[in-house]
Amino acid sequence: MSLLLAMTSWHVEDWRARFQALLPEMPIVVLGEPFDRRAVHYVASWKHPAGSLTGLPNLAAIFSLGAGVDFLFADDKLPAAPIARAVDPDLTARMSEYVVLHCLMYLRQQHRYDRQQAQALWEDNRSEPAAGAIRVGTMGLGELSKDAARKLRVMGFDVAGWSRSPKALDGLPSFSGEDGMKAFLARTDILVSLLPLTPETRGLINSELLSGLARDGRLGGPFLINAGRGGLQVEADIQAALDAGTLKGATLDVFETEPLPSDSPLWLHPAVTVTPHNAAMSEPEAIAGLIAAQVRRLEAGEPLQNVVDPARGY
Ligand code: NDP
Ligand code: OXD
Repeated sequence: MSLLLAMTSWHVEDWRARFQALLPEMPIVVLGEPFDRRAVHYVASWKHPAGSLTGLPNLAAIFSLGAGVDFLFADDKLPAAPIARAVDPDLTARMSEYVVLHCLMYLRQQHRYDRQQAQALWEDNRSEPAAGAIRVGTMGLGELSKDAARKLRVMGFDVAGWSRSPKALDGLPSFSGEDGMKAFLARTDILVSLLPLTPETRGLINSELLSGLARDGRLGGPFLINAGRGGLQVEADIQAALDAGTLKGATLDVFETEPLPSDSPLWLHPAVTVTPHNAAMSEPEAIAGLIAAQVRRLEAGEPLQNVVDPARGY
């Protein structure tokens, strides 16, 4: 019985060493090297090449090495095994750091002061709002958004969330579905997207959505932070809204094409902050530990945790 590591763009050796230490009795085999396909009971994947997981007759589970699973459903030859994703406090904490950091950057106008510093310009703004005057809206109220929302509230921001199903969350105003979208956007100065990429959410961050954001806020216009998936956003629409001034700024960690092509205008846009899809990295130590525990659970006849629903796509 073996565990197959199937990944592109990450250093497989870091993961192999970690898994081997945690599961010493189990051969850890790697896609691209020779291995016995019949012996594979478990796959741990990050963006495996589509079609490369066929012909594994004894597969019992597929583990995503990240929180997202869109790359798995993009493989139309994915074997029909249960899929579990990473739900990990380390990953969650990293994402909340990213979200809080960039909300604070907008609140405290740090981009303006960076530009001023480049010109040796000493000029303060006497009308900076307090966090409580800024309405942050998280698209998604899942594992990552709930933690980010909680930490944003500790900083004093006025936070609400939007999800597919209605929620009652400890005093956090929440909206749901298409019916709740308009009111949610209308009270949002900083929109934080932490949605999964599914057929329903693809292209959601477009001109129409951006035009629904609040125009009466203390930041002088709305901001966008997308750390969910690049497929959620229509980059041409974001660029157009920025150029028209209907969107004041955008922090983007994820892109329609990754790595972001060097000729993308987003790189040099003065109102855009680009980060290389690293808002919340999967740390081999933490994630391999989670998956090893899942393997032991299955071997003991216990149910898998953090199982994804293929019908919903997340
Ligand atoms: P969860 O599955 O816990 O939460 C997803 C949330 O999105 C839920 O609240 C869900 O609603 C909501 N949602 C899904 N579809 C819709 C829809 N059609 N309309 C409205 N709301 C919807 O996911 P996580 O919070 O753990 O992760 C979210 C995403 O973050 C991942 O899928 C991944 O793409 C991204 N990510 C990015 C990283 C990075 O480094 N940039 C790192 C890690 C994750 P409901 O509650 O009703 O089900
Ligand atoms: C994830 C990611 O889904 O890093 O975990 O994007």
